[in-house]
Amino acid sequence: MPAVISAFDPEVTPLCNSDQAAISSHFLRLGAKARRARFGNAVSREFVKRYAERILQMDGAVYGVFVAGELRALAELRELPDERPMVAEAAFSVEPDWQGRGLGNTLMAHIVVSARNRGIKSLNMMCLRDNRRMRRLASKHQGLMEFTSNEVVTSLDLS
Ligand SMILES: CC(C)(COP(=O)(O)OP(=O)(O)OC[C@H]1O[C@@H](n2cnc3c(N)ncnc32)[C@H](O)[C@@H]1OP(=O)(O)O)[C@@H](O)C(=O)NCCC(=O)NCCS
Repeated sequence: MPAVISAFDPEVTPLCNSDQAAISSHFLRLGAKARRARFGNAVSREFVKRYAERILQMDGAVYGVFVAGELRALAELRELPDERPMVAEAAFSVEPDWQGRGLGNTLMAHIVVSARNRGIKSLNMMCLRDNRRMRRLASKHQGLMEFTSNEVVTSLDLS
């Protein structure tokens, strides 16, 4: 269990090249269940390692929450090319020991502000149907949900 931190007030910070090692370590700490929830499939540690290594080279923004110097949660904002009005996708990863402690809420609020500041009009998120925390986050922001057999695609109208 993580140490109890009094007055837990997570701060979101943009991640850059100097955070690369912390990003890789974060993804490798997710574990099989969180990896599946994040990527929508059972993916290997090798897959997430490669993903983490190129995350800062992809277009968009990456934000994180450090707790006591360790990156415990991360959010990605990816603009879809050639879409007008502008559309983006968001994805989140909170390490298992840190889930259910408000980090997802904090990152979601930050991503929505960041997307609005970039002129994005529609923000899409995808999760598995059994992902109650992610569905709760999306519904709190009045997301329009579409259900497939095993996924939920949520679209937030930011216009
Ligand atoms: C989904 C995820 C981002 C949510 O972040 P989190 O820090 O665990 O969630 P929070 O603590 O901010 O809680 C979010 C909401 O879910 C609620 N919640 C917490 N545990 C819950 C549970 N077991 N069932 C239902 N809702 C729950 C919280 O109460 C909160 O709602 P509220 O603000 O109305 O109280 C995080 O769990 C995660 O990274 N999971 C693995 C990867 C993943 O699923 N990514 C999403 C797809 S990209």
